[in-house]
Amino acid sequence: METFRTLNALKKALVQIRRRGETIALVPTMGYLHEGHLQLVRTARQSADRVIVSLYVNPFQFAPSEDFSSYPRTPEADAEALRRENVDGLFLPATEELYPRPPEAMTFVEVPGLSDTLCGAFRAGHFRGVATVVLKLFHLIQPDTAVFGEKDLQQLVLIRRLVEDLHLPIQIVGVPTVREADGLAKSSRNSYLSAIERPLAGALFAALNEAASALGRGPSAWGEIALKGQQVLEAKGFEVDYFAIRRLDDLEIPGPLERRLVILVAARLGRTRLIDNLSVDEALG
Ligand code: PAF
Repeated sequence: METFRTLNALKKALVQIRRRGETIALVPTMGYLHEGHLQLVRTARQSADRVIVSLYVNPFQFAPSEDFSSYPRTPEADAEALRRENVDGLFLPATEELYPRPPEAMTFVEVPGLSDTLCGAFRAGHFRGVATVVLKLFHLIQPDTAVFGEKDLQQLVLIRRLVEDLHLPIQIVGVPTVREADGLAKSSRNSYLSAIERPLAGALFAALNEAASALGRGPSAWGEIALKGQQVLEAKGFEVDYFAIRRLDDLEIPGPLERRLVILVAARLGRTRLIDNLSVDEALG
């Protein structure tokens, strides 16, 4: 595996890959890799001749009150894990190169609507930061395919929208969430959970499943089902940002005839903000 720390080194390697006519799959990450990331890498491996993983904790997707400085950083262990997965290239950009201007003079890309709902309503500027860094990575690497986890469903839907709106010739692949034995979605932020909080965290996925099995009661019950999901979690000590039933494809509020639904939740347990979702694509009653 080659490691690229500068745009120049990356560009040189990309020229070689393209000269050989090989395709590229990109897996953008913020590091502290877990099994969920490795699943993205394996999907990428099956999608293209070369796999490039980027590892960059993007400061511009963290609000000032968020965990940018404490976000776990383990680049050596990450590189080792990626080597074992036969990744071809690891891109570790430096902020000075990726963002050559001071924040007040930077160019950002916005995906309106999708950036403001659900997590966007609680994390000011988050999706603008995500869209901007992902677009930069797409331009720098020009992958044929890019792979993202379905755990961050709003991010995945937003990136699909970005690619469609800007006519980028990149296939976006979503990979199902990898879970712990109790259903907790794997996430780098799970490491923030205390020994007391960790056994409680499985309640998030349990609440999603409970809501999913109640959806058959019909659209008139959806509001009540979402409220119940929120209340169940609050009773267990979570602070719930949202527990919502949305349209799977664009995360809009669903009409009564909608059959492709997703239930999404974001909730805080102590200082840890957890997100999860469960899609329900079936003939509902
Ligand atoms: O999902 C993540 O880890 C990040 O949001 C991403 C896509 C790497 C952009 O910084």
